[in-house]
Amino acid sequence: MRSIFTALLVPSALAFPSLFSSTDANPLPLVIWHGLGDNFANEGIQDVAALAEEVNPGTYVYIIRLGGDDDPSADRSATFFGNLTTQIEQVCEALRQEPIIGSAPAINALGFSQGGQFLRGYIERCNAPPVKNLVTFGSQHNGIAEFQHCGLTDWLCKGAMALLRGNTWSSFVQNRLVPAQYYRSVNETTGEPTEEYLGFSNFLADINNERDIKNKTYAKNLASLSNFAMYVFANDTVAIPKESGHFAQVTNLTNGTVTPLQDRRIYKEDWIGLKKLDKKGALHFKNVEGEHMHLNDEDLRQAFKEFFGPTSKSALGKVQEYLKYQELK
Ligand SMILES: *[C@@H]1O[C@H](CO)[C@@H](O)[C@H](O)[C@H]1NC(C)=O
Ligand SMILES: *[C@@H]1O[C@H](CO)[C@@H](O)[C@H](O)[C@H]1NC(C)=O
Ligand SMILES: *[C@@H]1O[C@H](CO)[C@@H](O)[C@H](O)[C@H]1NC(C)=O
Ligand SMILES: *[C@@H]1O[C@H](CO)[C@@H](O)[C@H](O)[C@H]1NC(C)=O
Ligand SMILES: *[C@@H]1O[C@H](CO)[C@@H](O)[C@H](O)[C@H]1NC(C)=O
Ligand SMILES: *[C@@H]1O[C@H](CO)[C@@H](O)[C@H](O)[C@H]1NC(C)=O
Repeated sequence: MRSIFTALLVPSALAFPSLFSSTDANPLPLVIWHGLGDNFANEGIQDVAALAEEVNPGTYVYIIRLGGDDDPSADRSATFFGNLTTQIEQVCEALRQEPIIGSAPAINALGFSQGGQFLRGYIERCNAPPVKNLVTFGSQHNGIAEFQHCGLTDWLCKGAMALLRGNTWSSFVQNRLVPAQYYRSVNETTGEPTEEYLGFSNFLADINNERDIKNKTYAKNLASLSNFAMYVFANDTVAIPKESGHFAQVTNLTNGTVTPLQDRRIYKEDWIGLKKLDKKGALHFKNVEGEHMHLNDEDLRQAFKEFFGPTSKSALGKVQEYLKYQELK
């Protein structure tokens, strides 16, 4: 077993300036947001952090936690309960204040399941420090059409899901239950979102700029990514529909009619910058084998190599190269 917490050991703050010196040998710090029912101290997520460090040595990893540094159960509870507007504000503040993350020129971000769309929320709303590469696994970028099945003895999960059913659009639920805030209901004939969703969704309808008034900052921030890689689990039966991980829309759940992102207005009218990303080759649609969040080390390694490696050239190096090119002309 990998030793836990190695990736979290912080060099002294004094050692920090050398971390981002002009050599650029060090990869950017990595921020991870875990999924529903998980917590920052869990072995699984700690192992992922250690793997990220192993693949790209020198990576400083910070796992997002809500509810304080010493309270994994509060962190887990916050995956079910809370107002996402507030939660994302708290994460923006926490990242700003974290000594290494907060002073990094840029960071990379890895989101698991719901953590993926929440990191996108961070990018669209705050993005300070800015995210360079965003990777999401099994996320629900276009929302969910059904609520999660809970483990038999997971009372926290069961309690949350029981409250959800039938009350999805009440402000009580939208204020307090996390999955309700990325639930998306559509008219099955037209595939268009329902009035209730557009009216009352506390998170997804806003972050996807689905309402009449679009927030241009959201599109600008997301389009500024160098890479946005979206991984979908081929055998996912938990995140319904799984195609949501690629921003696709499933119109008819019974017969599985899927409208890919490129055929949707969110892309064609570029509500959130996805078309811009696609045009510059920065949008990656990935598929991996397996059930929801049944990650294997090989897929993770591949993703970390491809998207979180140290940048090959420093910005300074690029400027020098450009100047040299100008001289030669
Ligand atoms: C758009 O989002 C930014 C970032 O969250 C916010 O500062 C701004 O007030 C929003 N603009 C509008 C018109 O809502
Ligand atoms: C969630 O919190 C925000 C910010 O505090 C608040 O404006 C909003 O009304 C809350 N959400 C709902 C559904 O009430
Ligand atoms: C779905 O859209 C169709 C066509 O606009 C409309 O006739 C129908 O009433 C809508 N269904 C629901 C449940 O809103
Ligand atoms: C599936 O459903 C969609 C709309 O709900 C319909 O247009 C399409 O014809 C159906 N396809 C099949 C094979 O039943
Ligand atoms: C969805 O697909 C099923 C199976 O093809 C079909 O029976 C049903 O009518 C479709 N629903 C709508 C709203 O088109
Ligand atoms: C996933 O599903 C496909 C076809 O439905 C099957 O061939 C494959 O073995 C499954 N893979 C896993 C890892 O379950």
